[in-house]
Amino acid sequence: MVRIIDGKAIAARITDQLVGQSKQFTDKSGAAPCLAVVLVGNDPASSVYVRNKGKMAEKIGFRSIQKTVPADTPETDLIAIIETLNNDPSVNGILVQLPLPEQIDETKVIELITPEKDVDGFHPISVGRLNSGDFDKALIPCTPAGSVILAKDALGDNLSGKHVVVVGRSNIVGKPAAQLFLAEHCTVTIAHSRTKDLPALVKTADIVVAAVGRPEMIKGDWIKPGATIIDVGINRVDAPEKGAGKTKLVGDVDFDEASMVAGAITPVPGGVGPMTIAMLMSNTLKAAKRQHGLAD
Ligand code: GUN
Repeated sequence: MVRIIDGKAIAARITDQLVGQSKQFTDKSGAAPCLAVVLVGNDPASSVYVRNKGKMAEKIGFRSIQKTVPADTPETDLIAIIETLNNDPSVNGILVQLPLPEQIDETKVIELITPEKDVDGFHPISVGRLNSGDFDKALIPCTPAGSVILAKDALGDNLSGKHVVVVGRSNIVGKPAAQLFLAEHCTVTIAHSRTKDLPALVKTADIVVAAVGRPEMIKGDWIKPGATIIDVGINRVDAPEKGAGKTKLVGDVDFDEASMVAGAITPVPGGVGPMTIAMLMSNTLKAAKRQHGLAD
């Protein structure tokens, strides 16, 4: 029988622990850890993510700043907002929700965030620290960090020698996930849209990390019996079976098919999604402690 990896429960355990740690930090430093989230525009999915991040921050005892600006905000205005947050010592973590509207250069914005406050882990300095294994200073991208914890929930802490196939090569998930599993002594293959015979490659994986953004692309007969499946995809698709005009969320993996073959699998929703938010909170506290010279 396949094991469903309960990301929601694992994330809740982590955020519960953060409540006490946040209080300790506040007692020692005199102020709560503070996360600032910037949203440009009103994309419905991004608005939900940003709201959930703010709610969770407050639930843990953090201070939460949310700055929402219109979709046509000029790049110079966004830069000014980030500079203000960079220069405010009471702000410990800064996240600019992606994607950004086309008048704004995403790379420029990411590079502007002070690396010590870069709780997304997207700044080139954060990327470099991850890639060179400098985990004492690095802030690690949240979704990949959560994916490793979920894989360990299924397989135990020792992932050494496992073959991980990461499907997708984005800067947000695929590339950092590959680096993290490499640091866990896995053998890592990064696959993408030009990979030849992807189904055969995926079938060699002990752990599949699916991060392509294509609904239910990875089928049951692509999967090695007993493999662990970490489904990072969050795709909204039509669900006529629920009624006219209804939609539902599905992953990048065909869950029903994969469940017949895999040893363990993350559901969508309730798998990687809640872990991403938990890791963001963990990064915020980590950043705050480092800024105050407190141990991790
Ligand atoms: N958009 C989709 N995923 C992410 C993420 O992890 N961080 C940010 N900032 N934007 C996103």
